[in-house]
Amino acid sequence: TGVGRSVRHESAAKHVTGEAVYIDDRLEFPNQLHVYALLSERAHARILRIDTAPCYSVPGVALVITSADVPGQLDIGAVFPGDPLLADGKVEYVGQPVLAVAADSLENARRAAQAAIVEYEDLEPVLDVEEALRRQHFVLDSHTHKRGDAAAALAGAPHRLAGTLRIGGQEHFYLETQVSSVLPAEDGGMLVYCSTQNPSEVQKLVAEVLGVPMNRVTVDMRRMGGGFGGKETQAAGPACLCAVIARLTGRPTKMRLPRQEDMLMTGKRHPFLVDYEVGFDDDGRLRGIRMDLAGNCGYSPDLSGAIVDRAMFHADNAYYLGDALIHGHRCKTNTASNTAYRGFGGPQGMLAIEEIMDAIARHLGRDPLEVRRRNYYGKTERNVTHYHQTVEHNLLEEMTAELEASCDYAGRRAAIRAFNARSPVLKKGLALTPVKFGISFTSSFLNQAGALVHIYTDGSIHLNHGGTEMGQGLNTKVAQIVAEVFQVDVSRIRISAANTDKVPNTSPTAASSGADLNGKAAKNAAQTIKERLVEFAARHWHLCPEDVQFRNGQLRLRDRFVSFEELIQAAYVGQVSLSSTGFYRTPKIYYDREQARGRPFYYYAYGVACSEVLVDTLTGEYRLLRADILHDVGASLNPAIDIGQIEGGFVQGMGWLTCEELVWSDQGRLLTANPASYKIPTIADVPADLRVRLVENRKNPEDTVFHSKAVGEPPFMLGISVWCALKDAVASLADYRAQPAIDAPATPERVLWGVEQMKRLK
Ligand code: MTE
Ligand code: MOS
Repeated sequence: TGVGRSVRHESAAKHVTGEAVYIDDRLEFPNQLHVYALLSERAHARILRIDTAPCYSVPGVALVITSADVPGQLDIGAVFPGDPLLADGKVEYVGQPVLAVAADSLENARRAAQAAIVEYEDLEPVLDVEEALRRQHFVLDSHTHKRGDAAAALAGAPHRLAGTLRIGGQEHFYLETQVSSVLPAEDGGMLVYCSTQNPSEVQKLVAEVLGVPMNRVTVDMRRMGGGFGGKETQAAGPACLCAVIARLTGRPTKMRLPRQEDMLMTGKRHPFLVDYEVGFDDDGRLRGIRMDLAGNCGYSPDLSGAIVDRAMFHADNAYYLGDALIHGHRCKTNTASNTAYRGFGGPQGMLAIEEIMDAIARHLGRDPLEVRRRNYYGKTERNVTHYHQTVEHNLLEEMTAELEASCDYAGRRAAIRAFNARSPVLKKGLALTPVKFGISFTSSFLNQAGALVHIYTDGSIHLNHGGTEMGQGLNTKVAQIVAEVFQVDVSRIRISAANTDKVPNTSPTAASSGADLNGKAAKNAAQTIKERLVEFAARHWHLCPEDVQFRNGQLRLRDRFVSFEELIQAAYVGQVSLSSTGFYRTPKIYYDREQARGRPFYYYAYGVACSEVLVDTLTGEYRLLRADILHDVGASLNPAIDIGQIEGGFVQGMGWLTCEELVWSDQGRLLTANPASYKIPTIADVPADLRVRLVENRKNPEDTVFHSKAVGEPPFMLGISVWCALKDAVASLADYRAQPAIDAPATPERVLWGVEQMKRLK
């Protein structure tokens, strides 16, 4: 019952037995069509001719559509236009959908699509960030954060360093690929089952491509087989293609992307190119910094405005930057449109400053942890960010001290130095890195949520909220919150699929804010009903309201108890409304983009991780031997789920920085478009010794739901400690006096190049 306990995930048993129903597992509608999209083979080209006639010679084909067949609006851009549902006269990346075939089976649709004739006239593509930057080829304008006079601070600093860092992207690799299934409804409407983090946006876009009002379209979303940001905007494409085909044929329609098509068609984490100059004193304390963060956005804006903003907001990570000038650029390239991915640009900004911390430490011959600490935000001074938000209730100093002691950083540092001195080939590395992550959507208006609670006459509770379940345990947490309000067992509560009929105008489940926002909205809904019940009970049983208490699944009325069922029966007969909506919006936050200042984040979540690696300097291969994590979730709503999020986030972050490498050909074709060539971490990459602890007795001082903190994204960036530990191992080859130039991901090849570089220095 209630919050703070490790209630198991509402679908845990179904997940492990395979009984959890995903969209492709739903019973199929009779007469259903399957859709396959033909993807562009060219990175940038004019379309001279499309001939779909040959497609119809494949049996089972019902319809082939191109952009000309879309009845309503063609563009499905989330915030800014730029994403045609099907290519409109030109293609801008290899993988862009050009036409879509609907047939009686996916196989027939695929064969038919391949029979289409498309003639292109090639145009010159822009394939990398450097070139886009050189040409000022942007999807959106650049933005700047500024404090003080960075140029003067750099000029006057006792030490200066400059450098560049290339940061790779990341494929979401959700187990369930993008999928939608739609059923035509009355009055031109559509019932849409879509694996999406953003049902309201899918509803809006389906309505727009059909040219009907939003009230004709219902989106239903029970669960995703993972989203990780990849289904925040990019689930809409398949839903809209299905809707158009269902409209034109009058038949139920499903589109499930095969893995390779998903990887070619949809955007990923933004690769970044970072260029910096930094000035610091003899102790390694920052005086001033200039950073240019250039995100590779792909061919269209998608969410890149907010993503590059978040990279800029996290260019400080945990550190007071001094005088700072941070530029963010949104580079346009002829690749798939990059999108949200756990951390939403934050990880890229943070990786850059962590690289800088290491570089300073090597330059001064200090331990990197010492340099990091010296630059931590202070409690009362040096506590304002470069976007002018004050960092309050900072836990990093105490958390770092706690982890440093519990993982025996000093002892292991000494042991590793000794090991490296006598081990010529195998080298160990160690790194302890912090995370400070801002919680709230930086587009302040998105920080709102709704919920709907019904109590039926048998006392069972139906709960619906605006968030979506993607494995992160949101439904479990929100059910616990409502259980807490009524003091009943969570088993009494059933959460139904997210549905635009029940809760309208929802924000995406993103920015880690699912439980913060929807939990509060559900709590408000439950509280409204509870107040009615208390008022009714007092009247009914002739007591004052203070004598009515909910506890242990019962109602306590001074000296006697009434069961929850009895109460609800009586309230129903007493004509009390047993249903309520709830609403919540986050207080205190604002951001003035013109001035580049404000309080974009309601609060920060903190974490520290210490990783130890072993590197084979002959091959560049390595292993993570041990990781210790201490993470701050305020007063945990559910410790087991929170620890699961921390473990998963850490391993996913490590994957981004180690084994997951995206490679494109010089023609702009993604060469790593399947699991044979794109490697996510496996269970064998999880260290045998992984110690995760939650910070205890530090509830969120802000008025969040039961004083908890968001957990979805922040632990991702704990993976940075692995990347820093790898560099630490390699730096040992040059007596820790130089920082090896190893870009992210630190694949074995890059580690080996770093080894060669260190050997040359020696
Ligand atoms: N955990 C699982 N199992 N699956 C996911 O897709 N997505 C992550 C994180 N944890 C994800 C996950 C991302 S990108 C975000 S923003 C949050 O969960 C979203 O959910 P929340 O706001 O409820 O934490
Ligand atoms: Mo998460 S990247 O905000 O969906």
